[in-house]
Amino acid sequence: MSILEEIQRRRIFGIISHPDAGKTTLTEKLLLHGGAIREAGTVKARRNAKFAKSDWMEIEKQRGISVTSSVMQFEYNGKVVSIMDTPGHNDFGEDTYRILTSVDSAVMVIDAAKGVEAQTVKLFKVCSMRQIPIFTFINKLDRQSKDPLECMADLEDALGLPSTAVTWPIGNGLTFEGIYDRLENKVFLYRQKNGIIELGPKGVFGDALEGVISQANLDILREEMELLDGAGNSFDLKAIKEGKLSPVFFGSALADFGVTAFLQHFLEWAPGPGTRKTTTGEVLPTDEFFSGFIFKIQANMNPAHRDRLAFLRICSGTFTRGMTVTLSRTGKQMKLSQSTQLMANERETLETAVVGDIIGIYDSGNYQIGDTLTDRKEKLFFEPLPTFPPELFMRVHPINSLKAKQFQKGVQQLAQEGAIQVYHNEFNDVILGAVGQLQFEVFEYRLNNEYNSEVRMEALDYGVARWVNPVSVEDVRDHLVARSTLVFDRFERPILLFANQYTLNNFMQKNPDIELWEALNLD
Ligand code: G4P
Repeated sequence: MSILEEIQRRRIFGIISHPDAGKTTLTEKLLLHGGAIREAGTVKARRNAKFAKSDWMEIEKQRGISVTSSVMQFEYNGKVVSIMDTPGHNDFGEDTYRILTSVDSAVMVIDAAKGVEAQTVKLFKVCSMRQIPIFTFINKLDRQSKDPLECMADLEDALGLPSTAVTWPIGNGLTFEGIYDRLENKVFLYRQKNGIIELGPKGVFGDALEGVISQANLDILREEMELLDGAGNSFDLKAIKEGKLSPVFFGSALADFGVTAFLQHFLEWAPGPGTRKTTTGEVLPTDEFFSGFIFKIQANMNPAHRDRLAFLRICSGTFTRGMTVTLSRTGKQMKLSQSTQLMANERETLETAVVGDIIGIYDSGNYQIGDTLTDRKEKLFFEPLPTFPPELFMRVHPINSLKAKQFQKGVQQLAQEGAIQVYHNEFNDVILGAVGQLQFEVFEYRLNNEYNSEVRMEALDYGVARWVNPVSVEDVRDHLVARSTLVFDRFERPILLFANQYTLNNFMQKNPDIELWEALNLD
């Protein structure tokens, strides 16, 4: 197979969802279909091994690298599929967002009874900012669910995402009888005891389904198809590829129902590796020089080994172990001799890799999040990764003031590494910002272990951050509302912290002329 063919068959995606919608269950079913695991329960067991807080470091040590950000790869219908694991629950953090900067498409899992939930909205924003295609899997149809039309309307209302139904449920919960694939004109019958029965092609308007499914479900299905055919968005592959239209699938991950139809369509329509923007132009996947960017750095939690693992997405050229590349930020030459494939359960040394692969390279402290590596002679910088809006804040002090230097150094390095956001106020207090609680725990642990600095952390009652136009700083000082404060990030950009959305609204009402930005759209 030529290198071009190898590139074209790569598919990298991440799964976005609210906790408990069924991301783990769906991931597991996809891995089973791809032959990457043999038994259901493998991914689940891995997840469940987690995360009593105090066990966290132990678990990290045992695993070598964190499972919270591995890549799961399998082959299916000739495609090499990589699922980037996007941590949720307790291990949700900025990493979860950043992983989405490395994927070419996303699968959004929604609980059919609950609709779009808060964490899905946040993750969706990151994907839509990059205009990557989003495939929607509406899950748990074997349980009592919302009306499917309502689920579709929810995507539009909560996310502003136009959608087109590819498969459609026949009943739900106790009345669930299967799904109808509108494009293939096939019905898949859900028979708990006899597995899945495929009927097709069978239109819903002739008599093919009479007596096959209940009359009540058939009547509803016909009515809904009429509505969708008349008023729904029609299927438009170009719009899907541009991220403007989400194809929607219904099913039950737990029962492995509707998953095959989803996987087959998804792999057919999801894009392979595309062009990547740089500060001066674009890099094409077919460009011959090697280039890639680092989107995550995983610290080694074992204090005896300070080395870290940097996750690199290859954007052009071929990686060969031992190659020398330039780290664009410093101009330094780096020999990539220790490299690894990032599989969920094992780490294998990697000799070569192509565009669309994610590799792990050992790092003794040289790399930062967002770094570009390339063997091109001319300078090259991929666009900087976005800053994500923190929602949790802590004030932090060194317990031993004689160790203030170590403290400052540790804080600075962890901020550069992207482990946490660091701010200061006008009294020079250090304030940390994070999107997940685990980031604080990692911060505290690493500061103690790597920088020998014990800290005291104090939770602050703020939940919303907005960057302020620097010219307004003086105005802001005079117009702060109750339960808000002014801090500065490590680039000295002013930020307002508010207790909640209500406080923010109050401020905006009183100060309509002060410009505020969410972190995502800082530039
Ligand atoms: P997450 O990774 O998005 O957090 O969700 P996860 O897959 O862990 O699923 C959350 C719960 O929902 C699990 O139940 C899982 O079995 C269930 N679930 C997932 N998909 C479906 C589905 O299609 N239908 C139904 N009925 N349930 C589904 P749990 O009780 O929390 O865990 P477990 O004891 O079953 O492992």
